[in-house]
Amino acid sequence: MSEPIWKKGGQGEGPGAAVMRFLAGEDVVLDRQLIRFDIRASQAHVNGLARIGLLSADEAEVLVAGLAKIDEQLVSGERVLDERFEDGHSALETWLTEQLGPLGGKVHTGRSRNDQVAVALRLYMKDRLAALRAVCTEVAKVLLQRAKAEGELPMPGYTHLQRAMPMSVGLWQAGHAEAFIDNAELAALTHRWLDASPLGTASGFGVNLPLAREAVAEELDFARLVVNPQYAQNSRGKVELQALGALAAATMDVRRLAWDLSLFTTSEFDFVRLPDGWCTGSSLMPNKRNPDVVELLRAAHGVVAGARVELESVLSLPSGYQRDLQATKPPLLRAFESGLQALALVPDLIGAIEWNETAMRAAISPDMFATDLSVDLAREGVPFREAYREVGMRLKDITADDVVASLENRVSPGACGALSLDLLAERLSAIEEI
Ligand code: ARG
Repeated sequence: MSEPIWKKGGQGEGPGAAVMRFLAGEDVVLDRQLIRFDIRASQAHVNGLARIGLLSADEAEVLVAGLAKIDEQLVSGERVLDERFEDGHSALETWLTEQLGPLGGKVHTGRSRNDQVAVALRLYMKDRLAALRAVCTEVAKVLLQRAKAEGELPMPGYTHLQRAMPMSVGLWQAGHAEAFIDNAELAALTHRWLDASPLGTASGFGVNLPLAREAVAEELDFARLVVNPQYAQNSRGKVELQALGALAAATMDVRRLAWDLSLFTTSEFDFVRLPDGWCTGSSLMPNKRNPDVVELLRAAHGVVAGARVELESVLSLPSGYQRDLQATKPPLLRAFESGLQALALVPDLIGAIEWNETAMRAAISPDMFATDLSVDLAREGVPFREAYREVGMRLKDITADDVVASLENRVSPGACGALSLDLLAERLSAIEEI
């Protein structure tokens, strides 16, 4: 292992290898996902130091270029962040010092790994929330497109998983679309809520330097500052939990959509066929065609929900930095990685759904028009409760003919008509403005 950056003269041996491994945990490997954000923030910090005269313009230029070079080497694979280092922050300073000599050590003037990790995490979350918002928008778009094209296909509607009233494919599609519009908005609002720079708060007490915090935040494209240095640390984990909340809203809706599809693809329902590209087979039963993708999409929420519980459990802490906060990283990174991977498949999956109109029509039994018939009577002035009882008494008399005659006009104008699709499309484009 390379020397820890905090190693100073006149000290004893310090922790042995086993303790150092325990302290690092999987941290250094996880830092591979954060280090490029750390580099960006380090470059802005260096420029900030030049602004207040703590670095000359030449020194700042050399440091910024040195950081850029490390970034390139990481991308090309020429440099790897591995267990030789305590964490990504130490690796950066060590590499910079190897490259530039003692000048490399100037990068850490006026900062601590505590604000360094906090700023890298906020940049990471902003990036992931932007991706979340984009994929939710895409899911909603594909659903609305399909609803527009084929939304009037009749479909039986269920409550309690029992046949209830006729509805349409468009009603189902637009229902899921609205969910993902909400999710895109939540991602955007959460992005805005955590769009604050903690850089310059150092260990949680500030430092005795007139750091150009606003200019640095602006260079990093933050909307504002985390003003208070204690809160910069106290908000760690709390912010992550909200980011995971936005992700969880989306994966929860993926779970419901996947649940519907797994029901609809059964022989018993048979409303949906998924093309071969979305199905697998059984190693034993030659007859099987399994919707594994849909099932694993349903399971994706479990990882995110578990991560939230794990993260929340770590946050019973006093004020200021505690090393426990390092334990908030694994659930955050794990959940975003697997949640976004699942979500990325959803637009194409929705595009691939093949509806079985015959099966859906056949599943709309005449009694499902009982509510409509009661409402018809109520329109004529019969008190609804009486109409309800009257129709209820002659459920058996409702015929298939009634159904076919009323199906077309029942499904199209009200439930999924152009108006509601337009309203949703409008809201979707309004979110794109946030
Ligand atoms: N890996 C650490 C974390 O995530 C970085 C900050 C270390 N700071 C410290 N004072 N030991 O919290």
